[in-house]
Amino acid sequence: MKFFVDTADIVDIADLAETGLLDGVTTNPSLIAKSGRKFLDVIAEICAFVSGPVSAEVTALDTATMLKEARVLRRIASNVAIKVPLTWDGLKACKALTDDGAMVNVTLCFTANQALLAAKAGATFISPFIGRLDDIGQDGMQLIRDIRRIYDNYPHLKTEILSASIRNADHVTQAALAGSDVATVPPSVLRDLVKHPLTDKGLDAFLADWKKTGQSVL
Ligand code: E4P
Repeated sequence: MKFFVDTADIVDIADLAETGLLDGVTTNPSLIAKSGRKFLDVIAEICAFVSGPVSAEVTALDTATMLKEARVLRRIASNVAIKVPLTWDGLKACKALTDDGAMVNVTLCFTANQALLAAKAGATFISPFIGRLDDIGQDGMQLIRDIRRIYDNYPHLKTEILSASIRNADHVTQAALAGSDVATVPPSVLRDLVKHPLTDKGLDAFLADWKKTGQSVL
């Protein structure tokens, strides 16, 4: 499963990129607002650090203006993926953009039918929001399983499932078990994935024993 990081914080992105784990980045208007920085500058900086897809979201509601915004965003770098909402206008923009060779991430997906429409419109990525479904008492992960099954029934659909709105490490495990192609993960959750108390305990014990030997490699 590919890892994207879900943030517009360039410091976090630079740090995580050093691990070699980052396959891409997703942003959204809320994350850009949180950064307090200019949208186009942030996307350009991210693209300089990360060679994989960097999702930049349009904010227009009609297809024609979405396409105008997409033209500006695509000029920033060749790895910009245009993020469009799962609306009729968003689907039309998706079709026009993918026909023109752009990567498109269709966002705010909450049903399997929406995911089917996005795939038929040629989406590069579909972003089902797990956490937001959990928030309203539904099983977000079941949506990932359903979409996986539907896409696998129709192998000509090439859209990648990008599990989004991930809130914890178990979401990452479950998304991988469900066969999600990508998970976009907040930096804090990505850092949590490395942690286990037995790793820390084991390391402490090894270092204590090593100290007893009185040796040094350097
Ligand atoms: C994905 O592209 C979205 O930016 C993100 O995963 C939304 O997550 P949230 O529901 O935690 O805001």
